[in-house]
Amino acid sequence: MMGVLIFLTTNSTKTYHPISETQSDWKNLKVLPQNISKDSLMFLMKTFNASLGVDCNHCHASQKDNPQKLDFPSDAKMTKEIARGMLMMTNDINSKYFLPHRPDPKPKNLVAVYCVTCHRGNTNPEEYLQDVSKMIPRLMPTKEKNEK
Ligand code: HEC
Ligand code: HEC
Repeated sequence: MMGVLIFLTTNSTKTYHPISETQSDWKNLKVLPQNISKDSLMFLMKTFNASLGVDCNHCHASQKDNPQKLDFPSDAKMTKEIARGMLMMTNDINSKYFLPHRPDPKPKNLVAVYCVTCHRGNTNPEEYLQDVSKMIPRLMPTKEKNEK
């Protein structure tokens, strides 16, 4: 149900690419549609890499018998589980807070917020938000007073 709400655009053409569905035998999908096509899944995974500035092994653990290769269905890495939550959050934001307010005609697959919207090529957006701490005294004057 959740996964059906995820749709992608390619930056180059600005055309919408709804996730295409064919029968595939994925082993351990808990958020994405079970029948997501290989093309759509790989496109999505590559956007994860680019959005966070990482490689596939940031979220996928190595195979036990062959550490050169990744065990994609494995849930051994915490980052993969966090990414599932991020996927659900991003879906929620788009479907609840953007889609209903866009004027018609709107494509059903309208997406306003992507991983890269927050991440900007970083695993932890707080890194590029460091400078925001300098704004804290202005944002929260009372907090600043208490800390002195
Ligand atoms: C930011 C984390 C992240 C990155 C980076 C990432 N993945 Fe994934 N990947 C996931 C998550 C989360 C799932 C499971 C989605 C779900 O549960 O619906 C997944 C699932 C998969 C699956 C399906 C496995 C199965 O059968 O259940 C494959 C294949 C896969 N990823 C390949 C890749 C490849 C190839 C790359 C690099 C190009 C990559 N991933 C990069 C998070 C990531
Ligand atoms: C609304 C902003 C926002 C969006 C959208 C978002 N993230 Fe995040 N994400 C964050 C923040 C902030 C953190 C850091 C949280 C912390 O560590 O305290 C984070 C942390 C993570 C982490 C764990 C940190 C690490 O070392 O890897 C992963 C994995 C991740 N996000 C993946 C994703 C993926 C994949 C998407 C798109 C499906 C996504 N995020 C969309 C804000 C966002």
